[in-house]
Amino acid sequence: MFVNGYGNIGRRLATMLSADREIQFIGVAKYTADMKTKDALDNQFGIYVPESNLIQFRNSNYEVSGTVEEAVKQSDIIVDAAKEGRGFDNKKSLYEPMKKAAIFQGGEDRCGARSVADMIHNSRVNYAEASGKIYVIQGSCNVSGMGRIMQPLAEEFGDEIERYDVTIVRRWADLEDSKEIRDSIEWDRNPHHQEDVKDFMPTANLYVEAYKVPSRMMHLHQMLIRFKTKAPSKDRVIELLSKQFGVAILNSAIGSADVRRKALTLGFQHGDTNMVHIHQEVMRVQDDVLKILYTDDQTGMVIPENHLLLQSMVFRRPKGEAIKKTDALFQLSRKKRILEEEFK
Ligand SMILES: NC(=O)c1ccc[n+]([C@@H]2O[C@H](COP(=O)([O-])OP(=O)(O)OC[C@H]3O[C@@H](n4cnc5c(N)ncnc54)[C@H](OP(=O)(O)O)[C@@H]3O)[C@@H](O)[C@H]2O)c1
Repeated sequence: MFVNGYGNIGRRLATMLSADREIQFIGVAKYTADMKTKDALDNQFGIYVPESNLIQFRNSNYEVSGTVEEAVKQSDIIVDAAKEGRGFDNKKSLYEPMKKAAIFQGGEDRCGARSVADMIHNSRVNYAEASGKIYVIQGSCNVSGMGRIMQPLAEEFGDEIERYDVTIVRRWADLEDSKEIRDSIEWDRNPHHQEDVKDFMPTANLYVEAYKVPSRMMHLHQMLIRFKTKAPSKDRVIELLSKQFGVAILNSAIGSADVRRKALTLGFQHGDTNMVHIHQEVMRVQDDVLKILYTDDQTGMVIPENHLLLQSMVFRRPKGEAIKKTDALFQLSRKKRILEEEFK
């Protein structure tokens, strides 16, 4: 397997694939001969670059293992982690001509002229449907988090739920990004999350608004669930969500940075919790409405999701077994216990 791209998501995917003994990991693609190339080499990852960039890398004295084309040729499946939208070009120029399977990330299009796949994966909802597929999109972090909360609610309360309204407060940049953060709150004319979630939960009556704020510390979701009659008790909802894989129930964090800093000080790999965190103390039930506030680890969320997706697409493993393997690799259950204890 090969990771095409070595940005915030690509480097985490590379850590994952290199740690899984079942997988023969070829290396990562780099397009720019910058310091992240050194980071990849320090991590012992093979570096593959476009043929046209070989001279740039050699002039910078970076050791290159080959071209991107050669790495794709050697792979059975590529995990594409390109800048948003470039996965489509990679599919057309590399994966399709070489008849290679690929996983794309959430920044790629599901529909329209630049669609890369006919399904978006969310392990809580449609894990089994990805089995044997050639091209699949792993939903973005926000989309993955929403499926993880909404699907158990839909299974438990079914037709009693009238609609879901989600306000996403998005981080401006990731911790590792060097781009400038503007002092502004930006709105999104057409949040893609609504249609993405409906791709795997087609009957959900969902409405999403998204705002970008000058923070690097996770996304925050305010989810309002309106019921036909009275909303269920908070205790019942907490009990249901506490049993979910990759969902932690916290009680004393005062902001998203608390959770991120805790992950960093506890030495979690890449500073990731890899999950969503329900903030129990501000969950409210008011008449027919249940209000859930949760933070979503933007960079870490999708990495175990990609691992689960690989197990469905490539190994065709039953979901229970796949979750055990992913949990062993990412220590999600252990991290959940630790976070719940730290923020009890
Ligand atoms: N960041 C998040 O929190 C997050 C969460 C969930 C999903 N995603 C999705 O994951 C994908 C990657 O996001 P990111 O945050 O990792 O982006 P990023 O940090 O900006 O990294 C993008 C990478 O793409 C590489 N690249 C440039 N041209 C390429 C090409 N033609 N093919 C493959 N790679 C190419 C760049 O290489 P060079 O640096 O060498 O130029 C860079 O390493 C996007 O679809 C995004 O929507 C991101």
